[in-house]
Amino acid sequence: MGHPVLGQRAEQITDVTDPELRRLVEDMVMTMIDANGAGLAAPQVHEPIRLVIFQAPISRADPGLSEAEAYDHTASLTVLINPEIEILSDEKEGGWEGCLSVPGLRGWVERPAHIRYRGLGLDGKPIERVAKGFHARVVQHECDHLDGILYPQRMTDLTKLIFESETKHWLEQNA
Ligand code: NI
Repeated sequence: MGHPVLGQRAEQITDVTDPELRRLVEDMVMTMIDANGAGLAAPQVHEPIRLVIFQAPISRADPGLSEAEAYDHTASLTVLINPEIEILSDEKEGGWEGCLSVPGLRGWVERPAHIRYRGLGLDGKPIERVAKGFHARVVQHECDHLDGILYPQRMTDLTKLIFESETKHWLEQNA
């Protein structure tokens, strides 16, 4: 947080077939897995281009979803190039977020609960999905990075910006 690349608008990707992109994605996937994160945006590894990776495993989804409901709440590891987000409902949901670029902290962020997103995969094919719950949250968090926005800038109540080591005091309360 504070590095200029994290505060700028990232550039549209014009050549999806560029082999450098594939290398970058491989690096990003390793970085994300090492950090036990759910997503990563290219600016976080100092590449100011419109590319994000994310995953929304069932283990992060709301408990008790039916199989049909879980469909929109989950996503396997996804590479999304030049993403666009459409908000599908006014309803907002709160959730705790963390970020590799804001280490050691967690913050309570309200975001639209129901979105559609579009972009290109690494194979150049279009991706279009509806997302809810954690899936909607991680996509919005990562795409915010492409517009120079970190999650604390989305917070409305800074009393809920806390150290990771203190989450135990909050998690039970807001579970
Ligand atoms: Ni982040």
